[in-house]
Amino acid sequence: MLKGRNLIKPLDFSKEEMEELFKRAEEIENDPSQFREQCRGNILATLFFEPSTRTRLSFEAAMLRLGGSCLGFAEPGSSSVAKGECLADTIRTVACYADVIVMRNPKEGAALLATSYTKDTKIPVINAGDGGHHHPTQTLTDLLTIRQLRGKIGNLTVGFCGDLKFGRTVHSLADTLSRYEGIKMIFISPNELKIPDFLKTQALKKNNVSFTETDNLEEVMGDLDILYMTRVQRERFFNEEDYLRLKDSYILNVDKMATAKRDMMILHPLPRVNEIDLELDDDPRAMYFKQAKYGMYVRMALLSSVLSA
Ligand code: NCD
Repeated sequence: MLKGRNLIKPLDFSKEEMEELFKRAEEIENDPSQFREQCRGNILATLFFEPSTRTRLSFEAAMLRLGGSCLGFAEPGSSSVAKGECLADTIRTVACYADVIVMRNPKEGAALLATSYTKDTKIPVINAGDGGHHHPTQTLTDLLTIRQLRGKIGNLTVGFCGDLKFGRTVHSLADTLSRYEGIKMIFISPNELKIPDFLKTQALKKNNVSFTETDNLEEVMGDLDILYMTRVQRERFFNEEDYLRLKDSYILNVDKMATAKRDMMILHPLPRVNEIDLELDDDPRAMYFKQAKYGMYVRMALLSSVLSA
């Protein structure tokens, strides 16, 4: 069903297709040995024009655990991009060598553009983050984490906190959650880092999702089933002064958790800079390292689906 498909923005896959992926990820988690030959003979290319730890390494770990192999670059300086090669030529070349391409790029729309250079091949392109736009496989990770640790996705009040303007993980998750029943969203950010209007009109209002905006985390803490913390995206700021002023807008710590529900989930796509105090890591509600592990399972499910069946 997903064989040969690109994944550029999260809504490229229907809700049902995502559920198929989550079921497969669950099977993989329960019995990984069943899948260890699934991608034997296939090659994954990871092309990272921006830094990454979890996304790149979990994709590579996923491919290796499926019996496949990986090639690529972790930073463009070690590729011919440093000599001035354009995206079109890089993609056309890599498409000669690999069976699936995962790319992260600082430019919004770069992943979509890449698909125009692979369209005569059967090679899927997966967007691992395009600027401040989308990050669909982080959304698959986030939703699988909620599904596995909460039992279902739906009837939840989700607080998004931090840099909602530039945070691509927030854009993709809010967009996708708006397809589920009974979701309320609370957007918690400084005024300058509010959720973009295009998301409000194209996703939230269109789907009649109930949402509110505030700059006060403590005020809404007790209402939340999920608190999705994010890092202020330094690399997207036009000047360092603004970043320095806004970077510590929210620091979650034990005191601030006082009014949180006992079963609230704290999620974070990571990396964390300063926005969650390390002392919270032992709180059973801190789920971000489990989330990082689900990222590998869902990427195994995704790679095996786009490559085989
Ligand atoms: C996120 C990203 O790259 O957008 N990281 C990730 O993939 N887990 C979040 C971030 O960098 O802040």
